[in-house]
Amino acid sequence: MFKRPKVSVVGAGGNVGAAVVQWCAQKELADLYLIDLKMDVAEGKAIDLVQGGAVGGFCPKFLASDDYSQLKDSDVVVVTAGVPRKPGQTREELVSINAGIVKSICEEVVKYCPQTILIIVSNPLDAMLTVAQKVTGFPRERVIGMSGVLDSSRFRSNISKALGVHSKDINAIVIGAHTDKDMVPIVSTATVGGIPLTQLATSEQIADIVQKTKNGGADLTKLIGTSAWVAPGFGVTAMVESILLNQGRILPCSVELKGEYGIQDACLCVPVKLTHKGAEKVYEFKLSETETAALEAAYKAYLDVKKIALACL
Ligand code: LAC
Repeated sequence: MFKRPKVSVVGAGGNVGAAVVQWCAQKELADLYLIDLKMDVAEGKAIDLVQGGAVGGFCPKFLASDDYSQLKDSDVVVVTAGVPRKPGQTREELVSINAGIVKSICEEVVKYCPQTILIIVSNPLDAMLTVAQKVTGFPRERVIGMSGVLDSSRFRSNISKALGVHSKDINAIVIGAHTDKDMVPIVSTATVGGIPLTQLATSEQIADIVQKTKNGGADLTKLIGTSAWVAPGFGVTAMVESILLNQGRILPCSVELKGEYGIQDACLCVPVKLTHKGAEKVYEFKLSETETAALEAAYKAYLDVKKIALACL
């Protein structure tokens, strides 16, 4: 008997969670379970979506609940719950409060759907991924962080704007930590229509693109008053789609590193292949000297945040 996949979004009443639900519904990827302590808000957002489905051309099936037992048999669980940053705040400053929230959700995940693939979105992302991994004990294939998909999309859009070309033809990734300071936009392999970025843009233009990419989340937080949700929602949906449809896309995601790039026992963003198995394969590639040093700095910065996160468990 065929069954539609089940995707649960914990924190679905919040902006990012609701955006994930919206894009997944529009693509008709799965039945959607919206879990939030503020169940009415989650339910209201879902009903709004259902009511738009007739004109939007989709017909979502959803259930909103504050009861974690509804996670049962989820194929994918997306965790967006937690406090978002305010203007002027770094993601790292959220560590103490969000570590406790992610921990308690992961305990429920283990109880109700121990075979699921977990996608973490809560910040500070890489440390929250470590919390999720410690609490669930899931293998690295099944604990994946949404960071690089978003940061890379921002990188590509900044390149697109600077050069006046379509972002679809830009291949460029961001790895490292999901922090303003320590994300690592990879210039050495970036291409535009198959041409190396370094042959199309000046070093001043590239430095500006890199800085705008790193500040992307903070700049939006300043403008909106809270952190962004549209691009993060698209980012998660691309990951969910590749997993559910077994697409095998190679997307930059945060995962536990086991010696890749000379780093062990740490969660950072690198290119991974996303399939039915989750993060089926982790890719290593040659970085420039500057990029290697930046990744090393990201690792050191991650260790500081990880220490605080684990002390909260
Ligand atoms: C951002 C949040 C989702 O970068 O971390 O917008």
